[in-house]
Amino acid sequence: MAVFNGIAEQYDQWYTSPMGSFADRVETELAFRLFEPKKGMKALDVGCGTGNYSIKLAKLGCRVTGADISDKMLVIARDKAKKEGVAVEFVDMDAYHLDFEDESFDGVICMTAIEFIKRPNEALEEFFRVVRKGGRVLVGTITRDSAWGAMYMSEEYRQDSVFKHATLRTLDELKGIRSEGFVRGGECLFIPPCAKEEDIGMEKENELSKTERGGFACALWIK
Ligand SMILES: C[S@@+](CC[C@H](N)C(=O)[O-])C[C@H]1O[C@@H](n2cnc3c(N)ncnc32)[C@H](O)[C@@H]1O
Repeated sequence: MAVFNGIAEQYDQWYTSPMGSFADRVETELAFRLFEPKKGMKALDVGCGTGNYSIKLAKLGCRVTGADISDKMLVIARDKAKKEGVAVEFVDMDAYHLDFEDESFDGVICMTAIEFIKRPNEALEEFFRVVRKGGRVLVGTITRDSAWGAMYMSEEYRQDSVFKHATLRTLDELKGIRSEGFVRGGECLFIPPCAKEEDIGMEKENELSKTERGGFACALWIK
């Protein structure tokens, strides 16, 4: 069920808004702090969508494969990678059945896609199969127990969006998908979706991190 086919054309608009670009910045910082991408690293980006993380990883010198079940998202991803002059192999592939040999990658990343994967433990099992021993598996999600989670899960929002297909989790619930190999997690995006444009920035983010739950969380496993 490639529900993202219907919104592929609009998907990247989010990243161009002040809040979208800020969210992208803090989420990428958190993800890469944990994932530790390195030049030459062979990385698989599952649920790569329009290639946001695949392209960033490729720019850092990683050898990247992006996998997704939405052919429309993949068309945009390929086009963007070409325009940005980076080589990424984008493949139409389901997280449950990754068509790769065991231990083919140094790392697997899956950002804001586990929400749409109905059997996350099976997907994690598959990520673990294709990553080498000592390799990293990083999963990022919008958190259920945050102002962002409340917005995305509201009836009004869900009614008319892909989020009617989503399951959000807390960081603890994300960790709980697989206990074996879990190393650490982290949160970011403490600024709520209703923040005024002038409040969007690191000063407010740091201040709110003392009292609020982050709207985005990542969990890192090592095989
Ligand atoms: C919200 S988008 C995230 C895209 C990208 N990771 C990002 O951060 O911008 C979720 C993506 O997960 C993909 N997806 C959902 N279920 C999937 C599955 N079973 N296997 C592979 N991709 C899946 C969707 O098609 C969609 O492109």
